[in-house]
Amino acid sequence: MLKNEVLKILLSNKSHVSGQNISKYLGVSRTAIWKAVSTLKKDGYNIESVNNKGYLLLNKNETLSRVEIEQCINAYNYSNPPKIIYLNEVDSTNNYAKKVSDSLNADFLVVSDMQTLGKGRLGRSWDSPSGSSIFMSLCIKPDIAIEKASIITLVMAVSLCEAIEEIYSIEPLIKWPNDIVFNSKKISGILTEMSSDMDGIKYIISGVGINVNNKDFPDNIKETASSLFLETGILMDRARLIASTVYHFYNNFNIFLKTEDMTDLKEKYEKHLANIGKEVKILDPKNKYTATALGIDESGALLVNTDGKIKRIISGEVSV
Ligand code: BTN
Repeated sequence: MLKNEVLKILLSNKSHVSGQNISKYLGVSRTAIWKAVSTLKKDGYNIESVNNKGYLLLNKNETLSRVEIEQCINAYNYSNPPKIIYLNEVDSTNNYAKKVSDSLNADFLVVSDMQTLGKGRLGRSWDSPSGSSIFMSLCIKPDIAIEKASIITLVMAVSLCEAIEEIYSIEPLIKWPNDIVFNSKKISGILTEMSSDMDGIKYIISGVGINVNNKDFPDNIKETASSLFLETGILMDRARLIASTVYHFYNNFNIFLKTEDMTDLKEKYEKHLANIGKEVKILDPKNKYTATALGIDESGALLVNTDGKIKRIISGEVSV
């Protein structure tokens, strides 16, 4: 589509580009360029048009598109990036990924600007406004044992921390198993879903929500949630953070594949683990108790010390 070609040019130029140069480069008329720019403006792109200078893309933090995500992913230069599916609106990117997973053989990433029915862990909902956050689901089809699938959540958690570190130069922490927190507030969550049959895993969908440029939150989560913008003052191009997360995920996923567990990622994960050495409340519905978190084992279970006994916590929730 012409508008995507024009967008690519505007994205890669930090100063004005003349309509004449764009039309020459793309081999189309200046009127066609003008029309493409008008469509991009309608799509929400803030494009400045200056006589005798041309077009310049301004504050692109509020926009997101397949072209922007692909361009940022390509900058990492790795082979076989996932196919990108971009949507302006969807019920849930995890649900969408499930629906299309049969028709796509290779890995793919569904990204949406907003969700109408964003899902959180443990049956909760996930606040999903437009224009400020990341909602994405990475669908992979690895040939690993079914019981290993839940470890992907921990692999994604480490990757998210590394991406945030790379882009914002801050050190976020992981609240076991997979909440990403900064200054004790939740900035990102992961919901991993899987499907299997007699032959093994059909797909693993790792759904990630990141509060990026959000300026406020609904009353019910105001006390516990925050965004990277509120914590750092930095407004970020969401496509950059998406690309960095995907890049770090594949690096860590390849490490995971060597042993099909957390053996070689344990150190990295524990470096980010907020709970380590701290007293945690184990919120087991049958038996609530406190214990000291020691770290994780190769399967990703949280190891805790309760009255001198070491216990493995494999699911549910702990509170700091
Ligand atoms: C949590 O409860 O911490 C997990 C939140 C996961 C939210 C993400 S947003 C993208 C993907 N689609 C969903 O419906 N949920 C996940």
